[in-house]
This record gives sequence, C-alpha cells and structure tokens, in this order.
Amino acid sequence: MAIRKIREIGDPILTKVCKPVKEVTPRISELIDDMFDTMYDANGVGLAASQVGILKRIVVIDCSAEQDEAIVLINPEMLETRGEQFGLEGCLSVPGKSGEVRRPAYAKVKAYNEDMEEFIIEGEDLLARALCHELDHLDGHMYTELVEGPLMSSEEAAQLMEEREMAEAPEEEDSGETE
Ligand code: NI
Repeated sequence: MAIRKIREIGDPILTKVCKPVKEVTPRISELIDDMFDTMYDANGVGLAASQVGILKRIVVIDCSAEQDEAIVLINPEMLETRGEQFGLEGCLSVPGKSGEVRRPAYAKVKAYNEDMEEFIIEGEDLLARALCHELDHLDGHMYTELVEGPLMSSEEAAQLMEEREMAEAPEEEDSGETE
C-alpha cells in the first residue's frame, strides 16, 4: 500500500479515455489499495485511476464521514439518473479550488467488484454527485468543464455560501437552489 502522486489539471492523462479492466490481477488489487490510501490521505471522497496516471476504468469512492464505506467500481456504467442538484464541487486534481456544478440528484450505476462480480449501486445527494464526477474522469472529463460561474478558492467558496445563507430564508436548507 502506498500513496500515489495525484495528477493535476493540465496533465494530458486526465483528458484520456480509460480502458476496461479484463481481470483483477495482483497489480490491479495493489492499485485499488493505493487509490484508497491516496484518496483518504488527500481527504477526498472519490478518485479515478486516471488521476494517479493509470488509464483503467477503476473508481474508488467513500462519501462517509468516518471513511468506512469504501466502494470500488470496476468498469462502471451509468444506468439511470434523475432529478437535479446544484452545488459546490471539487476535485483532488484541482487542488484548493471549487465551483458550482449541476448534477443529477440520483444516479444508478452498474459496476464490478474486485472479484469481478456485477453489482448495482444507487446514490443520492453527495454519492450521486461523486458517481457522476468519477465516471466522467474515466472518459477524460473534469468537473471544471461543467462549472457555472467562477472557479473559487476555499475562502471564496466559504464566503459565497455564507452570503447565500444570509440572503435566504432560514427554512430553506439547500442554499444552491435558486430557480
Ligand atoms: Ni475529480
């Protein structure tokens, strides 16, 4: 297990389409372990293999606060999306920045686990966002292509959220939805 170097925006590898995994070799298992280590070390909720320079269709996700809900998705495929959410999003390949992105509120994905057994995962809210964001990486796409408005520093994003909260009625819990 090891922490791998995270490729940053501007690196051409992040724009490449990743190739399907045919079998989970010991090397692939090691890659998956390293991807979790790398993601947790960077306090991320998701990481695609291309972000550590490997063009394979592998994604790791953990949206839990305790970092105890590790999900690995091999050859994931989006089956269904529904609804909409609008909110801040960031990426370990775009350090220190975030921007507002419109995503489905619900996503249903088919993937394979480390034993190459097929499974279905459904997610709402943050998990739906993470599934969409990470699957996009496998096709060479970054959230920065979808950002509405400016890419912000953490301070700017925090300030924006504070202003929104103050401007909105206290009953409204989703600060992103203005339409
Ligand atoms: Ni990302």
